[in-house]
Amino acid sequence: MNHPVQILDWPCSIKLAMMQLPVKKKHPRRQEPGPPASLEFCVHFPEVVLCLVEKRMGASRKAFLTTLARQRGFCVEDANSERVTHVVSEGNSGDEVVEWLKKKGRHYIDAVADCPALLNISWFTESMSAERPVPIEPRHYLLDALQTMAEEAHFNGSEARSLAFSRAASVLKSLPWTVKRVQELHSLPCIGEHSRRIVQEVLEDGASAEVERVQHSERYQAMKLFTKIFGVGVKTASRWYQEGLRTLADLQVHHAKLSKEQQVGLLHYDDLNTPVERSEAEAIGQVVREAVEQCLPGASVTLTGGFRRGKPTGHDVDFLVTHPTEGQEVGLLSKVISWLDKQGCLLYYSSHRNTFLDLEDLELWSSSSSASMMDRFERCFSIFCLGCLPGALQRGAGAQKPSTATWSPGASRSWKAVRVDLVVSPYSQFPFALLGWTGSRNFERDLRRFSKHEKKMALNSHTLYHVEQKIFLTAASEEEIFQLLGLEYIPPEERNA
Ligand code: CTP
Ligand code: MN
Ligand code: MN
Repeated sequence: MNHPVQILDWPCSIKLAMMQLPVKKKHPRRQEPGPPASLEFCVHFPEVVLCLVEKRMGASRKAFLTTLARQRGFCVEDANSERVTHVVSEGNSGDEVVEWLKKKGRHYIDAVADCPALLNISWFTESMSAERPVPIEPRHYLLDALQTMAEEAHFNGSEARSLAFSRAASVLKSLPWTVKRVQELHSLPCIGEHSRRIVQEVLEDGASAEVERVQHSERYQAMKLFTKIFGVGVKTASRWYQEGLRTLADLQVHHAKLSKEQQVGLLHYDDLNTPVERSEAEAIGQVVREAVEQCLPGASVTLTGGFRRGKPTGHDVDFLVTHPTEGQEVGLLSKVISWLDKQGCLLYYSSHRNTFLDLEDLELWSSSSSASMMDRFERCFSIFCLGCLPGALQRGAGAQKPSTATWSPGASRSWKAVRVDLVVSPYSQFPFALLGWTGSRNFERDLRRFSKHEKKMALNSHTLYHVEQKIFLTAASEEEIFQLLGLEYIPPEERNA
């Protein structure tokens, strides 16, 4: 029997968790719970003691995750603590973790019953969302293995292969049951031969040799490191790798090779790779609203992207700006940017004018695939300095003061670099822009594919074009767009899936 899996049911928010380690069965310990590692947090799960592997995770991300875990009632200790039961790492192979533990004075012997479980970041992420330690399942290893393969394909410029692996991971993630045998995959869509092979290896051997090889490869590791720099894509990272560069220190030596954007990205590497908290997004929203209000009263600012979908954290903060009188929004963005800059809020910005009006053949463009790939709104990619924001605003009524404890415990500095996207839309295109900028990317891709194939309509962030009737359809809200597509409204929270 085929399981009916509809396009729009596919989950898409796969965390970029890259680990794949053999699962170790845990025997619960009988030790008395010790005092909480930090007096500020209560320990809810005394039987679980986490240790985070700093290697590849980086100090500031480790600090962020440590505080997150403690806030959720988990105990976190150093690697050499005898009490550690769960070792969580990101981007290392099993051997590397064992080696790392050894260096920290913790000898890891497989056969000993109370040796800690070696876990990857997806187990951690799921446990944080569930606010309890979730059972250790092969699923975590499967998703991470497929995601590693997707990433490797992306690093090699094979987008179709990359998409195939991510889709396979999405489908596995959407299943209400846990795959235990490879035969269960037969009835599922989107699982290609290669993905099937990887799943089989993981299920049968606890790890996939191919995935481990990828994770160990020098190129994969350098590509992963470089593409995490703001302003660096696969092409640039690949070129640097060919030139023999391997580490961030290498890049610092060859500073001249970097664009202005990349230099800023390198400078704020740790901050920009530390998740943005919702409270931080709201604090920035407050300032953006103030700036917009100052420059054009009556204009509105809407939080979009992952935060609109209800995600607790994000890699950046996305805002969409419009004004109910069409045309009023023209010229607004540069005023907003200079207002923010004058207040000392911006560490970097790069703005791009609206190129929608330059289009000579709107119908041709709307039905082309490039229309669904990228929009042509006026926009600004920026890096905010959170903590350098105008004091009055941060302490103002209703403003949520960014809590340093939520992102960097023990940090001596009081500010943090945060990526912010500002996009301006004319009012008549606002519902399309809102739908497009709320994401997720995979949801948008599925929705646009559905419109095209099932409805013969071309959907993008500006318009909805009926290809056969050759007309543009208008909508006053997201709800109306779903209606035009013959779909029930899907609220933002369900667009992560
Ligand atoms: N988007 C777009 N064009 C771009 C960049 C982004 O249309 N040049 C849209 C995408 O559809 C995406 C949404 O804007 O879904 C938000 O993009 P992004 O910030 O990259 O992703 P989020 O879903 O917000 O994830 P995160 O929380 O990690 O930022
Ligand atoms: Mn975002
Ligand atoms: Mn964004």
